[in-house]
Amino acid sequence: MPSLFDPLVLGPLTLPNRVVMAPMTRSRADDAGVPADIVAEYYAQRATAGLIVSEATCVSPMAKGYSRIPGLHSPAQVEGWRKVTQAVHAGGGRIFAQLFHTGRVAVPALLPGGAQPVAPSAIAINGKNYTDLGPIDYVVPRALETDEVPDVAAEFGAAAKHALEAGFDGVELHAASGYLAHQFLDASINQRTDRYGGSVANRMRFLLEAIDSMIDVAGAGRVGIKISPRIKFNDVAEPDAEVVYPALARELSARKIAYLHGAHQGGYEVHAHMRPAFGGLYFAGAGFDKAKGEAMLEAGASDTVVFGKHFIANPDLPRRMRDNIALAEGDSKTHYSKGPAGYCDYPAAPQV
Ligand SMILES: Cc1cc2nc3c(=O)[nH]c(=O)nc-3n(C[C@H](O)[C@H](O)[C@H](O)COP(=O)(O)O)c2cc1C
Repeated sequence: MPSLFDPLVLGPLTLPNRVVMAPMTRSRADDAGVPADIVAEYYAQRATAGLIVSEATCVSPMAKGYSRIPGLHSPAQVEGWRKVTQAVHAGGGRIFAQLFHTGRVAVPALLPGGAQPVAPSAIAINGKNYTDLGPIDYVVPRALETDEVPDVAAEFGAAAKHALEAGFDGVELHAASGYLAHQFLDASINQRTDRYGGSVANRMRFLLEAIDSMIDVAGAGRVGIKISPRIKFNDVAEPDAEVVYPALARELSARKIAYLHGAHQGGYEVHAHMRPAFGGLYFAGAGFDKAKGEAMLEAGASDTVVFGKHFIANPDLPRRMRDNIALAEGDSKTHYSKGPAGYCDYPAAPQV
């Protein structure tokens, strides 16, 4: 069985190792969703990852659910991301763009004209969104009209086109963490009675339309997806995850997409269930260190291991893991702060 440091063919790419950098929101874009220059520096520092998956990036203005997150729906955003992809490629790396719509996680203060957020059903999240304007209570979203849903799904294709124009090597659909695609899957959040709600096939329809629009522009070999069934976040409940996810794996397998990334962050054994159910490459994420990651690969339980927090303070994570160099601890206070502190100022380990 391969180790973390063996190469892997992923669609048209060859990853030099199986240490994948997880998508992580770091909130260093401007108010127009354009990544700042330090974003290029940050990702380039991490170019030795087998694959980088970018922070979640908005497919449209209505997708924006947090302050200072980036988009891929305007020319300025494409130009900003081009600097990032060029810097990563110059460093020898590969980077996919993670695309999302936050649905009911958004609040009017973040949306054009103070618009009401949209979602499968008019059910609010309990709690607050911590914006730059202060904590704001989640609001009851507007349930999308049936004929609006395909247009929102098509925004993923449009954003994928922009991602390729910006030089990304591929795109990942963010169907995790209780954002819009996940909201449609979850029977506790999606209470629709039209063709986008009710049966499992209907609840998967939005996600599949979105990923099909991405495949149309990028080709299946450059499209991945992330799921986190029953994650304890954004009021995700998923009473019938045991039925939904195997059905989803069958649909995704048929499309021959590049990979399925499962993050185990809730009461559903995503790796154990999805690895055998999905025919393509499986990426296991959440809670891994080197030893646990190596054990997954040795057991044939995954094809790569996705690391999140460890990449924040260890830009050279693959080398540190390969050479057993102690890992630095990151500071969670700067996860979503402004500027370079706690972002692109974590050094690589000294060369011996
Ligand atoms: C600061 C931070 C931001 C995150 N942002 C995203 C995101 O934008 N998209 C996503 O799919 N997951 C996001 N996650 C979740 C990670 O991708 C990953 O699944 C999680 O951190 C568990 O992996 P780990 O234990 O290796 O950190 C984020 C995690 C952290 C710590």
